[in-house]
Amino acid sequence: MTAEATGNGEKDIVILGIESSCDETAAAVVRNGREVLSNVISSQIALHTLYGGVVPESASRKPIEKINPVIKEALEKADCELEDLDAIAVTYGPGLVGALLVGVAEAKAICYAKNIPLVGVHHIEGHISANYIEHKDLEPPFICMVASGGHSHLVLVKDYGEYEIIGRTHDDAAGEAFDKVARAIGLGYPGGPKVDALAKTGNPQAIAFLRAKIEDSLYDFSFSGLKSAVLNYLNQCKMRGEEPNRADVAASFQQSVVDVLVQHTVLAAKNYGISKVAIAGGVASNSTLRSAMTEACEKEQLSFYYPSPVFCTDNAAMIGVAGYYEYKKGVRHGLDLNAVPNLKLGQR
Ligand code: KG4
Ligand code: ZN
Repeated sequence: MTAEATGNGEKDIVILGIESSCDETAAAVVRNGREVLSNVISSQIALHTLYGGVVPESASRKPIEKINPVIKEALEKADCELEDLDAIAVTYGPGLVGALLVGVAEAKAICYAKNIPLVGVHHIEGHISANYIEHKDLEPPFICMVASGGHSHLVLVKDYGEYEIIGRTHDDAAGEAFDKVARAIGLGYPGGPKVDALAKTGNPQAIAFLRAKIEDSLYDFSFSGLKSAVLNYLNQCKMRGEEPNRADVAASFQQSVVDVLVQHTVLAAKNYGISKVAIAGGVASNSTLRSAMTEACEKEQLSFYYPSPVFCTDNAAMIGVAGYYEYKKGVRHGLDLNAVPNLKLGQR
């Protein structure tokens, strides 16, 4: 790749993003923050399916085998060499420490060898930034609802790299609830996409599962009560000797999660006077959530943004994008950067 100049005379900024916080080992090359030149993901879903979920020890060991081939492929697909990179952006938290360390150590080694800047990125900042890839016009401020296997946050994105968490889950993350309910109705791992697919053949009004509200906190979430309600329902069916309609259970559970996510997000946008809404994280690829949020935003005259499914679930392009905006702000990390399993959003 040759160093090109953009139309406005500025030199292109090419960033290699690396992501290894949990399930996936991923690398991507991103130009000028919004153009994805390559996006390579090596998934451990097959391995986790074998055990019915993420086993931290194996989730940590796999990235060591994958990281070099994944980076090589990302560079090749982008027609790029290490020498073309302006910086490396790497997820350094939150996540599984063993998995995070693989990406962080690799990024530090390349930055040291090539004498280029290192930018550590928060995983959730990456998820939020995935929205910039396909929406070239999207600029902060906006409200972003981030729902994944480990997080359910309502975030006010004030500016690039400036976040205020205005709502969070008090117990399970939304994706975690999808995974647990999927297991209970015999769908296996990963639960979200399987519940999404089965729910299409079910009736979302068949079972009146609760819509959890947290007293005194308008924007917070709670999903463990809903998960227990589903388990209780399944037990009651069993005790009565009845076979539950799994599609109805999936559709009714999913509707309950979607209703709460949509209501809280739209309420936050209205109360904060923000006209733009985005979603992010694995659960953002849920088809019912996407259509319900589209409808609610249309009704409230809010602009709605969402990434393609491949940029919703864990990937490194989103880390490259977030890294670009951090890099532009002058954020640089030293070679003493460590993995921080419980890193807080906005912490540097
Ligand atoms: O963002 P992600 O890939 O990893 C984390 O940062 O956790 O999210 C994975 C989560 C899993 O819990 C998975 O079941 C859920 O996202 N998920 C979905 C869908 N696709 C993935 N949940 C609901 N509907 C989907 N279509
Ligand atoms: Zn994630």
